[in-house]
Amino acid sequence: MYPLIRNRRLRKNDAIRHLVRETILTPSDFLVPLFVVEGKGIKEEIPSMPNYYRMSLDQLEKEVLELWGMGLCGVLLFVKVPDNLKDNKGTEALNKDGLMQRAVKTVKNTCPDMLVMTDVALDPYSSYGHDGIVGAGTILNDETSEVLAEMSVSHAKAGADFVAPSDMMDGRILTIREALEDEGFTDTGIMSYSAKYASAFYGPFRDALDSAPVDALDVPKDKKTYQMDAANRFEALRETQMDVEEGADIVMVKPGLAYLDIVREIRNEVDVPVAVYQVSGEYAMLKAAAEKGWLDHDSVMMEQLISIKRAGASIIASYFAKEAVALMS
Ligand code: PBG
Repeated sequence: MYPLIRNRRLRKNDAIRHLVRETILTPSDFLVPLFVVEGKGIKEEIPSMPNYYRMSLDQLEKEVLELWGMGLCGVLLFVKVPDNLKDNKGTEALNKDGLMQRAVKTVKNTCPDMLVMTDVALDPYSSYGHDGIVGAGTILNDETSEVLAEMSVSHAKAGADFVAPSDMMDGRILTIREALEDEGFTDTGIMSYSAKYASAFYGPFRDALDSAPVDALDVPKDKKTYQMDAANRFEALRETQMDVEEGADIVMVKPGLAYLDIVREIRNEVDVPVAVYQVSGEYAMLKAAAEKGWLDHDSVMMEQLISIKRAGASIIASYFAKEAVALMS
């Protein structure tokens, strides 16, 4: 057909490119992960995550107001737990006055309409850095699910809108859903980390929370017996479909960029919202390359985020949320 059809007509200038643009990012696409620590007046930069911070509850208040003012309306909370409160069973996770429970209340008191999601897994509370209870030679599945269900109820009592189990135990979505129903939290949602891979991209996050797995009994020092093998795609579909059947309101693929094929497949298969977590290592890679002057930070950031949305994400959890939204206005 050339030269009757010339695709470049649709790329001639900004106006036409905007007119035909298929994917557009908005502030409401984002969930902002936040790292909370004990103390007062603390806002400390995470060494492997430049321009990202752990903050105490008073700083969290300021942060949340700032986010809300920018149009960012959802946060995903993580806590850094002091070593002396860690044990194998994650006992501290169930403390009704624990840091997570107080963080949820702080956000809700400061900004009642902000959507609050809480991370549900044992690793920040575990003396072994595992997402579940370590037993003889394995991470105990069903015992862990029971604790996660109690933890979810505790977060719901504190005021969480959604709980976000990131642990990858089998059957935990059903166990959590049933516990929430039993306790009357019928409106508390579940965002399941349903296709979560055993990824080397989580390194900086584990620095942030001091939650890297350590030597324990006779279980491996990695999370490969519960998180998924990077090589597998059918398994991601099965995991996700099962979580939807068990009652997940939102499903998630994690990490982001290296798994966009999985995002697309899942988007095509399920009819619940699909979230993508652009993880700490993805953030750190760009920060490091930009620091060296090897990549243009803002352009690459926006390209990565748009790719995640184009692949099928309706929600993006990203450490870049604030920087990206600042560029949009
Ligand atoms: C742990 C959890 C991890 C992340 C979110 N929840 C780390 C892990 O599984 O070891 C990683 C997030 C990131 O790297 O940004 N349940």
